[in-house]
Amino acid sequence: MSMNVVTLLYLVASVCFIQALKGLSNPKSARLGNVFGMAGMAIAMLTTLALIVKQASSLGSDLVLGLAVLVGALIVGGAIGTVVAARVEMTRMPELIAAMHSLIGLAAVCIAYAVVSEPSAFGLALGGELPYGNRVELFIGTFIGAITFSGSVIAFGKLSGKYKFRLFQGAPVVYPGQHALNLALAVAMVGFGVAFFLTQSWLPFIVMTAIAFALGVLIIIPIGGADMPVVVSMLNSYSGWAAAGIGFSLNNPMLIIAGSLVGSSGAILSYIMCRAMNRSFFSVLLGGFGAETAADSGAKREQRPVKSGSADDAAFLLGNAESVVIVPGYGLAVARAQHALKELTDKLTGKGIDVRYAIHPVAGRMPGHMNVLLAEAEVPYDQVFEMEDINAEFGQTDVVLVLGANDVVNPAAKTDPASPIAGMPILEAYKARTVIVNKRSMASGYAGLDNDLFYMDKTMMVFSDAKKVIENMTKALE
Ligand code: TAP
Repeated sequence: MSMNVVTLLYLVASVCFIQALKGLSNPKSARLGNVFGMAGMAIAMLTTLALIVKQASSLGSDLVLGLAVLVGALIVGGAIGTVVAARVEMTRMPELIAAMHSLIGLAAVCIAYAVVSEPSAFGLALGGELPYGNRVELFIGTFIGAITFSGSVIAFGKLSGKYKFRLFQGAPVVYPGQHALNLALAVAMVGFGVAFFLTQSWLPFIVMTAIAFALGVLIIIPIGGADMPVVVSMLNSYSGWAAAGIGFSLNNPMLIIAGSLVGSSGAILSYIMCRAMNRSFFSVLLGGFGAETAADSGAKREQRPVKSGSADDAAFLLGNAESVVIVPGYGLAVARAQHALKELTDKLTGKGIDVRYAIHPVAGRMPGHMNVLLAEAEVPYDQVFEMEDINAEFGQTDVVLVLGANDVVNPAAKTDPASPIAGMPILEAYKARTVIVNKRSMASGYAGLDNDLFYMDKTMMVFSDAKKVIENMTKALE
């Protein structure tokens, strides 16, 4: 295969990746976007395989052994990926993604070590000397890869919540001089990187990598478990830049393009998530948010009366409404009640009631969580509205049904400038004529805050698991 054909195929794969990202930005085109992504990855992998065969034969390497290792790795890796992806629950997706990022980071480090130990095998060193440009790329790819690896391992542990190890606990680990220590380590890491750049010797390279592994841990431990989805998105961005850095060393344009796409889309996603949560990116990185607010709210909360009712009462209100807006939240995902909800809305629309869904950009625990949940239940896309499109409609809505959502409908974001979520855009459910809120208790949501919506005269609380309540409402409507 000539290099021109390789370049052309890589270009086709890159276009597929760009189409994949474009497709994934809308639920209607997401399936097609995934097909583009899979096609792009297949083209990229097969082209790289052909390239390796070509390079191995010209270098006189053992082709059979090389191919056996490569195909074996593809089969084992592909099989593990398929089983894990098929079994993972939607609410556990962020931790799976964290685990996968750790592997990308580790792969970047391994490739960089292979290049430094045998540059000629990668067609790089003339007379054993690595060109200076490559040394910079290897340094950047290695330290970003190492930070991504160890940071993602900690993020995985915090998100899974299954391990007793202190660093894997959701609560932030903070100590005096933490930021100064991190800064000193970062400076030392760059110093050893410069030493490697000047001398191409192993010692500074190894020390630099070790510091980067430690930094990955130290940067992530002060961040509370609840902020982890933003961190995972940030690590996603890092893993892309690590891959791009290594792409320069390997002189592989595909890796550079795919790495840059992952790096920039991850950075944009982190920014969007922070903006939708009204958090500065910097304050997420400095950590400690989840723990503080949870402790505050527990102390300040006073007992106030709430109106509560049964699923039958809620069904009565819904059955007599002309327009209903449903606000799904994290609790709906926990209860796995999306299919039951689809049945309920089919009943309501069958009675001629106008039913719409209102989606907050950070409802749930990962970007697009609610869209994926509703798509799983095959909710028609034209019933699903983004926050900007539906907020003006709440004032004319008869009943808003809030299912397992809390922070995303908390009016404190608009009315209380001292609230930790002040300024966060919310779904204005409080403007509707009647509000039904389903959750299991008066417990707070992610931000650890009380919610005035629950105490309003127009609000009826229905306390129980979302799935049970929805099924009972459907029965009552029959
Ligand atoms: P939350 O504010 O976390 O509220 C979820 C509510 O669901 C809880 O109050 C809980 O109350 C209830 N619940 C839990 N299990 C339930 C069940 N089985 N049945 C019924 N209710 C149940 O969720 P939200 O309104 O979706 O807001 C999301 C929050 O996560 C925001 O603060 C957002 O900033 C944050 N966040 C989101 C993301 C992304 S990208 N989506 C990333 C990081 C952080 P009970 O315990 O009383 O039932």
